[in-house]
Amino acid sequence: MFDELRVPPRILLGPGPSIANPRVLKAMTTPMLGYLDADFVEVMNDTVALIRQVYGTQNLLTFPVSGTGTAGMETALTNIIEQGDSVVVGINGYFGGRIADIAERCGAEVTPVHAEWGNIIQPEQIAEACDKVTPKLVAVVHGETSTGVLQPLEQIIDITHENGALFLADCVTSLGGQPVELDARSIDIAYSCTQKCLAGPPGLSPISFSDRAVEVIRNRKTKTQSFYLDATLLAEYWMGDSRKYHHTVSMSLIYALREALRVVIEEGLSPRYQRHERNAKALIAGAEAIGLQPAATKNHRAPMLTTLLIPDGIDDATIRKRLIQDYGIEIGGGLGIFAGKAWRIGLMGDAANEQNVLLVLNAIETLLIEFGASVDTGTAVCAAAAVYQSS
Ligand SMILES: Cc1ncc(COP(=O)(O)O)c(C=O)c1O
Repeated sequence: MFDELRVPPRILLGPGPSIANPRVLKAMTTPMLGYLDADFVEVMNDTVALIRQVYGTQNLLTFPVSGTGTAGMETALTNIIEQGDSVVVGINGYFGGRIADIAERCGAEVTPVHAEWGNIIQPEQIAEACDKVTPKLVAVVHGETSTGVLQPLEQIIDITHENGALFLADCVTSLGGQPVELDARSIDIAYSCTQKCLAGPPGLSPISFSDRAVEVIRNRKTKTQSFYLDATLLAEYWMGDSRKYHHTVSMSLIYALREALRVVIEEGLSPRYQRHERNAKALIAGAEAIGLQPAATKNHRAPMLTTLLIPDGIDDATIRKRLIQDYGIEIGGGLGIFAGKAWRIGLMGDAANEQNVLLVLNAIETLLIEFGASVDTGTAVCAAAAVYQSS
């Protein structure tokens, strides 16, 4: 006999999933409808309209891909790239590397533009690469979850368009936590996820293609190699008056996304972005007060994900295990070259609040003192509290 499913309570302050909003979890218990039931089509239409609002776009080809952020990444790349196409990819962390890997699998000739982890990609680097290879697509990660860097986009977008290429932004971590603004910035392709700043469960990837990107897809010489992720076929299910079956979508996840987006819009985009910024500022002040340095360069830190370098002599795994055991708090370990060297603290969606900031700072400080740090008890919380009092 197996017992009824029970999981221990967790305060999810890692790189995602974040703490799901209770209204979203409730929406997931809504009964199933048929995938072409007129009432479900209405739910689909609402969801697409809400995705457009949060992305800041009028793009027609906007829908949630079945699958996590990586499915959105594959959808974007597999629909745009044909064999031999030239693609420039900014790589300043783990996920830029993943874009390059998938682009290569799609048959692209990839020109990587590297920057040190913790730094941004400089616009001049993109300009130089575009001069060399005349790309069809330039791709960068907006919020690099492996390093905590928020990539400035405007100049890179201008350079991309001056060179006649499409611009793709990975917004997996940024959507719902920082402005993405597809139309105002002329971003051609963006994808995201549901489990980070939208405070939903993992499983869908909201994606949007500009009319220019749709034109490129329309003019393909070859079929998109993936049936499941073919945007042209998916458009026949997600939009228009006569819908066609493509695959059985997860009603529960679409209910969840609709509710998650409603919560975002109710809070208001600007207040939500400011909430993320204020809490990240307090977290960093507290962390720095006890000697923990952010890995991302100042002025380019993503508020929803703070990467802290682990002090010498402190064992990464031990601290993270104790955070779970003693406090029920999950934070993330480092990815790639940051494995064992950095912690990743996510303040994403609902989780970006004062209570969590003070809790995680107190917990980390207590453990560091236990493992030999010479820090006065209460230092981190005092520094964070000072930020809250002054802002
Ligand atoms: C910036 C970025 N891109 C892509 C992904 C992949 O998303 P997923 O794990 O939802 O497939 C992640 C996951 O953390 C991410 O942070």
